[in-house]
Amino acid sequence: MVKVKSAVLKEFSKPFAIETLEKGDVKEGWRRVRVKATGICGRDIVVWRGGFKNLKPPLILGHEVFGELDGKPVGIYPGFTVSENQKPFILGEDLPGGYAEYVDAPYGNIVELPTRDYEKYAAAVCGVATMIHVARISGIGCCDRVLVTGAGGGVGIHGVQYLSMLGANVYGYTRRPEAARVLRGLGVNVVDSLDFYKKIGRMDYVVEIAGGPTINRSMRSLRFEGTLILVGNVTGEPLVIDRPALFIMRQLRVIGSAAYSIDEYRYAIKLVGDGLIKAFYKKYSLDDVNRAYSDIMEGRIIGRGVLVP
Ligand SMILES: NC(=O)c1ccc[n+]([C@@H]2O[C@H](COP(=O)([O-])OP(=O)(O)OC[C@H]3O[C@@H](n4cnc5c(N)ncnc54)[C@H](OP(=O)(O)O)[C@@H]3O)[C@@H](O)[C@H]2O)c1
Ligand SMILES: [Zn+2]
Repeated sequence: MVKVKSAVLKEFSKPFAIETLEKGDVKEGWRRVRVKATGICGRDIVVWRGGFKNLKPPLILGHEVFGELDGKPVGIYPGFTVSENQKPFILGEDLPGGYAEYVDAPYGNIVELPTRDYEKYAAAVCGVATMIHVARISGIGCCDRVLVTGAGGGVGIHGVQYLSMLGANVYGYTRRPEAARVLRGLGVNVVDSLDFYKKIGRMDYVVEIAGGPTINRSMRSLRFEGTLILVGNVTGEPLVIDRPALFIMRQLRVIGSAAYSIDEYRYAIKLVGDGLIKAFYKKYSLDDVNRAYSDIMEGRIIGRGVLVP
């Protein structure tokens, strides 16, 4: 039994409560990881708002968890398959996550890290792994013209770097001038107004991270037989398509991309560990989780908010 400081979501859309909870013994085949850094994913914000109808508070969020096991640096792959043919359990949703000092996880989900840069992994790995999956299932590769929306957020700013590594010609849409500057520094062609579809010429792919606020413009910027990959929908509102005829006339393809495999997660760790992806984040102590949330929602963070216990 250990006492564990945790940020507990007791009611959707309300501030987290910082509490000390007792954690029982570790289950057989599981390990207890001492958390060093946890990223605050856009997905956590969706959970916080009550966007996943299957989840009920109290909840301890956080699936971007990096820390120590027996003194070694590790990450936890956040999808747990408890038995075959079953939907995986997600860390920080179905099971207590990383907004805490310790997290329990099945041994098979624990991946060794090449370095102790916990905060960098917490900032970048989920975004990079997400984009590795996107590129793999959609076929994005060398020389494709790809637009990424929500480019200044955690998935966007780390994901665009992976697309550039593949040799894609990357465009990013951001609303924020500070994010635009950073993206330009990364070699991204930045579009910063919502009429971007008039300015950039036709795209082969759009990686739609923002969702509702941009999807109609994203569709308009696709070429004939272009592909829209739906990754996120930040406001959680229904997606309303203004001109469905465009789908038909341009023979657009729409695909969804859900999470990433453990191999994609390992590859993202390697890229971050090798310094091939630059991590962008702002660090907060676990006690300051509510301040981190308001900073994210008010657009004050480029990349990720990262919690440290
Ligand atoms: N499918 C998957 O595998 C997967 C994995 C991770 C996350 N997600 C989803 O992807 C989405 C983003 O995640 P994230 O971690 O990148 O979140 P994040 O770090 O909070 O960034 C979201 C970005 O979306 C843009 N945005 C927010 N509100 C907007 C608005 N009203 N209009 C236009 N753009 C807006 C902003 O970009 P700018 O500031 O640059 O304008 C913001 O930085 C979430 O819906 C999350 O659930 C999906
Ligand atoms: Zn994530």
